[in-house]
Amino acid sequence: MQKEIISSSTPWYKTRVSSTLGIEYPIIQGPLGGLSTQRLTAIVSNFGGLGSFGAHGLSPSGIKDVISEIRELTTKPFAINLWVSTEDEGARASGKEEFVRSLKHLAGHIEALGGTLPDHKPYVPVRFEDQVRVLLDAKIPIFSFIAGIPPKEILDECRTRGILTIGTATTAAEAMVLDQAGVSVIVASGFEAGGHRGSFLLPAEDSLTGTFSLTPQVVDAVSAPVVAAGGIADARGIVAAFALGAEGVQIGTAFLVSEDSGASVHHRNALLSRKAQRTSLTKGFTGRLARGVHNQLIEELNRPGVDILPYPLQRMLVRSLVVPAEKAGRTELLQLWAGQSASLVQQSDAKTLLRTLISETTAVADPVVDWNRERRCKRSR
Ligand SMILES: Cc1cc2nc3c(=O)[nH]c(=O)nc-3n(C[C@H](O)[C@H](O)[C@H](O)COP(=O)(O)O)c2cc1C
Repeated sequence: MQKEIISSSTPWYKTRVSSTLGIEYPIIQGPLGGLSTQRLTAIVSNFGGLGSFGAHGLSPSGIKDVISEIRELTTKPFAINLWVSTEDEGARASGKEEFVRSLKHLAGHIEALGGTLPDHKPYVPVRFEDQVRVLLDAKIPIFSFIAGIPPKEILDECRTRGILTIGTATTAAEAMVLDQAGVSVIVASGFEAGGHRGSFLLPAEDSLTGTFSLTPQVVDAVSAPVVAAGGIADARGIVAAFALGAEGVQIGTAFLVSEDSGASVHHRNALLSRKAQRTSLTKGFTGRLARGVHNQLIEELNRPGVDILPYPLQRMLVRSLVVPAEKAGRTELLQLWAGQSASLVQQSDAKTLLRTLISETTAVADPVVDWNRERRCKRSR
């Protein structure tokens, strides 16, 4: 049996994730909502991975433009990512009084940086239904999403139009409902991951399973192929994810560091510094739980008694600090989105990162992957 495993001729990257998505390498550049670029998406797709563009903050016409621009840069499959749930309870009822209360925690910094204190403006919600309509009409190759499951009619329409779907789970229970809904691929997102927790069954605070525990639980619970996300930054992480039964990986932070992402120089330098060894979860950046490099801003906003507006109002409010802080290069007051493995990441461009990940993984992965293939076969017998 050992001999048979080692002598298999199927390389590690030929998995159900690569065949389902029509890509060569089952490495997904995770969507980076707000910091995605058309260029990064296309570089990864052209290389044979899957480039994803995080479009949740864009208007329908903005999304339409992004799709055309990506199509000018690549003919390979790419994904556009949306958030199914676009606001938290209380966002519509929240008024000037709440705004002023939350602003007071940031006002001192904004004024010290010479910024203008924002006025309260009525909230204009972004509608998922309008955003997704653009993806459907444009017949994009792959629609990925977090923070819920799109209504059945939308998933049916994806199937009719030949659009593949990638759903994101932060618990095994979420993975099971995504599987029942018939998504093509499931991302198991461990709590090491940078950016937001896209939890949708339980509150994000109660959905903090790490990638090492979550991935095999999800693999055992669903029939769709599973992609592991969270804390994967080099070939060791990829091999470990495959050993846990994943058939692909989704990497965010390592691509964020690459000069092809939309992260600012200050953000990228912070990720490459020792500061990145400590990350924390906070609701203070946007109103939803998210991970970033631990800094003064997180510390202040995580203090008990600080008033945080419901998502997405807090996101808009914090922007009025981030813009002047960015100009002044004050990293301690920025939203330094990052996953727990940020300090493993080296400076490189996206192509070099992919080349290194693939060659180093190839050196060790095949026996591990074959062992899991064997295991899956036995399970389905
Ligand atoms: C700045 C940033 C923005 C992100 N935005 C999104 C998003 O809009 N949608 C999504 O599904 N995942 C988003 N993610 C998660 C990534 O796509 C990916 O799953 C995660 O970063 C993987 O963990 P890692 O950071 O440890 O590599 C984001 C991550 C970061 C760092």
